[in-house]
Amino acid sequence: MYADRVLSGMRPTGSLHLGHYHGVLKNWIKLQHEYECLFFVADWHALTTQYDNPRGIEAATWEMVIDWLAAGVDPSKATLFIQSQVIEHAELHLLLSMMTPLGWLERVPTYKDQQEKLSEKDLSTYGFLGYPLLQSADILIYRANQVPVGEDQVPHIEFAREIARRFNHLYGKEPGYEERAEAAVKKLGGKKAKLYQELRTRYQQAGDDAALDSARALLGETQNLSLGDKERLYGYLEGGGKMILTEPDALLTVASKMPGLDGQKMSKSYHNTISLREDPDQVSTKIRTMPTDPARVRRTDPGDPDKCPVWQLHQVYSGDDVLAWVRQGCPSAGIGCLECKQPVIDAMQKELAPIQERTRAYTEEPDVVKNIIADGCEKARDLARETMRDVREAMGLNYS
Ligand code: TRP
Ligand code: SF4
Repeated sequence: MYADRVLSGMRPTGSLHLGHYHGVLKNWIKLQHEYECLFFVADWHALTTQYDNPRGIEAATWEMVIDWLAAGVDPSKATLFIQSQVIEHAELHLLLSMMTPLGWLERVPTYKDQQEKLSEKDLSTYGFLGYPLLQSADILIYRANQVPVGEDQVPHIEFAREIARRFNHLYGKEPGYEERAEAAVKKLGGKKAKLYQELRTRYQQAGDDAALDSARALLGETQNLSLGDKERLYGYLEGGGKMILTEPDALLTVASKMPGLDGQKMSKSYHNTISLREDPDQVSTKIRTMPTDPARVRRTDPGDPDKCPVWQLHQVYSGDDVLAWVRQGCPSAGIGCLECKQPVIDAMQKELAPIQERTRAYTEEPDVVKNIIADGCEKARDLARETMRDVREAMGLNYS
């Protein structure tokens, strides 16, 4: 209902690999042209599992940011920042923690899963349990309504929606709410005010959803209202209080088909990655030594692409002509596996070359990167402060 604002974060894992590139970064790069975008390094989230060894986080952050930039995330289009440098996230997290039922956190499916998966660590900590709440604060503080994430993060976005709803329900009815809403309607100006009232009545008395949509669109186009008044009027439409925090939606990233060197999903923990910083020769070696259809032992044995992880890479990198060439040449033993791998090697090296060129440039100029992040943090802080003013006011904590 607001102009779309996209926000996403990544934990600082150091340099990224082709799985990140095809699964996440290419999507960010597309989104930055279509929406207002905020992308940040979730360094506090890294601490939830790495509290015993926080020293590496900073270096991992800079490496990751350089990879974002090298991949094509454009700081003139998207705002790039570091979570811990916008401390307002912590304030919102604290305030939200007061009204978050423990049971909600315990029920988030990733909680027990991750705890079991990382069983060598003691994750029965307050911070780890609160992971989804910190993530909610990240999202809600920017009133971001679109959050690009993978399937695994969907429960966290749903959690954030519930938190926003609970917050609005608890604190959305400010003193003098009706009067303020009516005053805001007047500020819309004669014609628009009348239309707003009509649409509101139609929705509230007849449940007319189209009227609700039209009224929201009307507010969306309105330029002359303060953000506070706008929210008041969004909330007033539905009869509830002021909508202080926006309920976000997951913007599901189409599951990346990027396989690793063994055919499983490319992931650091499977040791099957090709880094964005991988040396061209190393790319060649890794692909040349990767397994193929196990039934194809000798060059003369026929193969089956559907049983071969190289074929999956062809899906990402090859055009129809090459695909047809493999489909024909593999089962007939017309082509050898090394021959078959060469177009993948070439395409990967070609993809990585300009990225690595930019990585070199940014690595040589760390100040450029620091400035980009400093600018981004400042912009993010301004937006975060605006929300926090409203949040404090709604809770009666502004002491002014
Ligand atoms: N939990 C996310 C992940 O592991 C990272 C993250 C933290 C995030 N805060 C966020 C993603 C806010 C989207 C929005 O991938
Ligand atoms: Fe795999 Fe290609 Fe070898 Fe067939 S020819 S087994 S698709 S690498």
